[in-house]
Amino acid sequence: MAAAPAAFADVLPAAAPTAPVRAHAAERTAVAHRAAIASAYPLASQAGQEILAAGGNAFDAAVAVSAALAVVEPSSSGLGGGGFYLLHRQSDGYETMLDAREKAPGAATRDMYLDKAGNEIDHASISGGLASAIPGEPAAFEFLARKYGKLPLKRSLQPAIRLAREGFPLYARLQGGIRYKRQVLLRSPDAAKVFLTADGGVPEVGAIIKQPDLATTLQAIADQGAKGFYSGRVAADLVAGVRADGGIWTLQDLASYRVIERKPLIGTYHGARIVSASPPSSGGIAVLDALNILSGFDLPRYDSATRKHLVIEAMRRAYRDRAVYLGDPDFVKIPLALLSSPDYAAGQRSSIRTDKAMPSDMLPGIESEPAGMHTTHFSVLDAGGNRVAATISVNLFFGTGYMPPKTGVLLNNTMDDFSTKPGRPNEFGLVGASANAIAPNKRSLSSMTPTFVETPKGLMIIGSPGGSYIISMVLLGTLNYLDGMSAADIVKYPRYHHQYLPDEVEYEPGALSDAEIKELQAMGHSLRLSGRRWGNMQVITWDFASGKVDAASDPRGEGVGLVY
Ligand code: DON
Repeated sequence: MAAAPAAFADVLPAAAPTAPVRAHAAERTAVAHRAAIASAYPLASQAGQEILAAGGNAFDAAVAVSAALAVVEPSSSGLGGGGFYLLHRQSDGYETMLDAREKAPGAATRDMYLDKAGNEIDHASISGGLASAIPGEPAAFEFLARKYGKLPLKRSLQPAIRLAREGFPLYARLQGGIRYKRQVLLRSPDAAKVFLTADGGVPEVGAIIKQPDLATTLQAIADQGAKGFYSGRVAADLVAGVRADGGIWTLQDLASYRVIERKPLIGTYHGARIVSASPPSSGGIAVLDALNILSGFDLPRYDSATRKHLVIEAMRRAYRDRAVYLGDPDFVKIPLALLSSPDYAAGQRSSIRTDKAMPSDMLPGIESEPAGMHTTHFSVLDAGGNRVAATISVNLFFGTGYMPPKTGVLLNNTMDDFSTKPGRPNEFGLVGASANAIAPNKRSLSSMTPTFVETPKGLMIIGSPGGSYIISMVLLGTLNYLDGMSAADIVKYPRYHHQYLPDEVEYEPGALSDAEIKELQAMGHSLRLSGRRWGNMQVITWDFASGKVDAASDPRGEGVGLVY
């Protein structure tokens, strides 16, 4: 970029090597502080704690937490999926993002989910072997351990292997997921053996879920690194299983999978430094785009309804840019310089009136949106100040629900995050343009937004599942943190959301007061009270002056934030 814009500077395409970036916190080692982990399930947070106690750093803990989540929250993420790990190394302020996003198989084609007449084939991108992309999570384990961790993979994977082998008690939310996906799981004998009773029923809460095949696969990774998954016996079983289920994976697809290290997106907002996920996530761009637009308004000056109106208008514009421009940066040129320029933000801002909603169809664009409770996020801070924000996924609940025989691995249906047909909304109602069309080995556009927000006074590590809602959640969390809200209040905060299309504000119960509802309606917003709540946000905050660390897990889920 020629002239670095004031905000949202420092963006870098594709796989360029990451230059060290110094952050405020690198200087703030004077006051001792504790370590913290917030994740979607207590056993996963404890797995991370065990590894920190064994002398591991935040990166080792990230391996332990991810692997434990693969075992105890298999509906949300796992070895058969992928995601993004945002890292900050305290010793030199080095920041990087591990792109462990799934990639399309080599034989994938742009129209693979369309019939001869160009119509979409029902469910083809969400169920069956064709829906699964090549997983990235196992490669991330080795990458984290080898390049950033202190402990051998063998040690960091131990808690997960134990949980898979010895089992864990079924809890209500997972039971709900199993009930919801029962028919799908029944079609995969290996998945049914793990998650259903012998007669195909849903196990009771408290039933012990054992996953011996998954333990064996994890052990192969512990012994051989990524090779234990991407080649040899496990790879052969994965490919055979996927092909038997109608898929197109090859051994070469697995053998050639690589984690790509990408420079995170870095921006500023009223003096705060925002470090977030870069493409193929759309999250960082969209959050920084919205903050850039908002930076031109003196938000505290406005009444609460107008403030929310302005945030909604910023969301509308940021989601529109997502739909139009974004895709895998190794395949399409993303106009980052344009999107990050203050002039562009000023242009976006000039179309916002403080008293009136702008209909989305007045913004040039394309079509489309709903949500989910799958995918998972965790945040880690170690006592040395190293930090990880990771959002990982198999896309929808249990992915495709298919477990290739003998592998213990549930496969993702992340192919659905591609724009399988221009203008067709995906499962999250998100539309995309050709930038996100399918191509061999390409990574689909994601909304996952692991983020650090740092001011001279403190730091927040934040992220959440929630499909398209992730971006608006991280935006609200950022604004709330900068307003002085505690970690516990940030995760609890009632959410509202606008994603450009459909042109409506969806809100959780309690997110808007009666007066705000009236005022927003009078401005022309169409409001929809959501029948459900969304997200499962995991936040850690660190106050530099006092050394106080807080960890909070979203009350919408069953997770726990631990500080030790
Ligand atoms: O990468 C994405 O944007 C989606 N695969 C994330 C899915 C998700 O968050 C589902 N959660 N509710």
